[in-house]
Amino acid sequence: MGSIESPSRVAIVTGAAQGIGRSIALRLAEDGLNVAINDIPSKTKQIEEVVAEIKAKTNAKVVAAPADVTNEEAVQAMIASVVEQLGGLDVMVANAGVMSYGPLLMVPSEEWDRVININLRGVMLCYKYAAKQMVEQGRGGRIIGASSMVGRHGVAYTSAYAASKFAIRGLTQSSELTKHNITVNVYAPGAIRTNIVSIEDAKAQGLNSSAMSKLPMAEPEVIASLVSYIAKPEAFFITGQTISANGGAHFD
Ligand SMILES: NC(=O)c1ccc[n+]([C@@H]2O[C@H](COP(=O)([O-])OP(=O)(O)OC[C@H]3O[C@@H](n4cnc5c(N)ncnc54)[C@H](O)[C@@H]3O)[C@@H](O)[C@H]2O)c1
Repeated sequence: MGSIESPSRVAIVTGAAQGIGRSIALRLAEDGLNVAINDIPSKTKQIEEVVAEIKAKTNAKVVAAPADVTNEEAVQAMIASVVEQLGGLDVMVANAGVMSYGPLLMVPSEEWDRVININLRGVMLCYKYAAKQMVEQGRGGRIIGASSMVGRHGVAYTSAYAASKFAIRGLTQSSELTKHNITVNVYAPGAIRTNIVSIEDAKAQGLNSSAMSKLPMAEPEVIASLVSYIAKPEAFFITGQTISANGGAHFD
């Protein structure tokens, strides 16, 4: 924990009730940041479990920050509440996202809207209101989003998901925040062991599940370790980048 002269930096991690987000939150707390655990309000119990786990394992201050990231007022209120409780905002990890499979010819517009709303609008709102707070504070910051291997290289039967994950890269490259010492980057994971990928669902929607099952797989900690570095002050020279971690499944 930081002293009064050098207060700990503060991070919000969205979609952190489980999976990659949970692992990132734990790693940032181990790195000495104070962290806010966001996920949808219906997962408040899971959020509280992650808060308790991180408190037990680290010296960090950890708070629950439930909010639906697609809701503009909720995102603003979440950031205001975290700033009040933890004293500022230095790192926003806009990790929350949902997967969606299905052939383009069959994608219901409602499903397209749901995926774009969570995976792109939600990320944009987190970027925007985190950046406003960071600019106001005047001490720089780190904004980090979740793209995907599928956001660098489209895969059949994932049109809405792939479109949302490509778009996050455009958003990230177009942020005019360098002059405020705020870097904006995304991680692009390959196959990571979490609940987001259900081979059964993928198979049912026509995706090549045998190709999927041959992908190199890793635990969420490999992404947490990457985010840990991008979040550090020493990573100030890295911005606008999409950084892949996919075990060699795809090169570009
Ligand atoms: N696991 C992988 O193989 C993989 C690969 C590439 C990219 N990603 C990306 O990494 C991120 C994390 O994925 P994961 O595998 O941990 O998935 P996950 O499903 O385990 O966790 C995602 C979390 O986001 C939350 N969430 C969904 N909608 C939300 C909303 N509107 N507001 C707040 N929270 C919301 C969910 O409740 C869930 O807890 C996602 O953006 C995903 O697209 C994952």
